[in-house]
Amino acid sequence: MALKVLLILVPVAIMATSFAQAQNPLGIIHVNGTLYCSINGGANGPATRVFPNASVQLQCQPANLVFTTNVTTNAAGRYDVIAIPGNATLNAILSSCNLVVNSSLSNCNANLPSAGQLVSPLQFVKTIPVGFLRATYLIVTGFQLV
Ligand SMILES: *[C@@H]1O[C@H](CO)[C@@H](O)[C@H](O)[C@H]1NC(C)=O
Ligand SMILES: *[C@@H]1O[C@H](CO)[C@@H](O)[C@H](O)[C@H]1NC(C)=O
Ligand SMILES: *[C@@H]1O[C@H](CO)[C@@H](O)[C@H](O)[C@H]1NC(C)=O
Ligand SMILES: *[C@@H]1O[C@H](CO)[C@@H](O)[C@H](O)[C@H]1NC(C)=O
Ligand SMILES: *[C@@H]1O[C@H](CO)[C@@H](O)[C@H](O)[C@H]1NC(C)=O
Repeated sequence: MALKVLLILVPVAIMATSFAQAQNPLGIIHVNGTLYCSINGGANGPATRVFPNASVQLQCQPANLVFTTNVTTNAAGRYDVIAIPGNATLNAILSSCNLVVNSSLSNCNANLPSAGQLVSPLQFVKTIPVGFLRATYLIVTGFQLV
């Protein structure tokens, strides 16, 4: 009886361990925040409106450094870009990825420029356990219109 339990538990433990080891220690990456309708995408005062329905994407060099998808800001201007890091390290991601807003600022305010894209480097916030995986949170350091 005890042997039977062991015969089941040991392979499960080995599988769980190799699964955990196969995972990047960063787990799943989230780049999240709120995009505002301003020349630098930031809240320049309490009255700044948000930028809803803007296309936000993570762009890295090389482009396949992480696996990611484009997202759109919601009605509250919030975005949560998810990326699977593969074997990329945190340093590689921070030094070679930017968050890019591929929607004209004039979409949210006709007085703002229609040309250019808001681009920001990233900074690390934290890595936390989620079950036996992990989640790593990154935020923008500050957008610039380029
Ligand atoms: C990102 O999401 C996490 C988890 O939901 C939350 O704790 C954090 O405040 C968010 N960060 C920003 C900048 O919105
Ligand atoms: C969001 O943008 C898409 C295309 O960029 C447009 O078709 C849609 O009407 C927009 N929605 C809102 C609520 O602005
Ligand atoms: C993001 O959108 C651009 C076009 O707007 C497209 O070229 C690119 O492949 C998309 N990326 C992903 C991961 O869907
Ligand atoms: C990361 O994985 C890619 C393919 O997925 C591979 O080409 C690259 O050499 C790997 N890099 C390292 C440092 O292991
Ligand atoms: C940005 O958006 C335009 C139009 O929506 C699209 O044609 C272009 O491919 C996008 N660029 C990227 C890098 O996603």
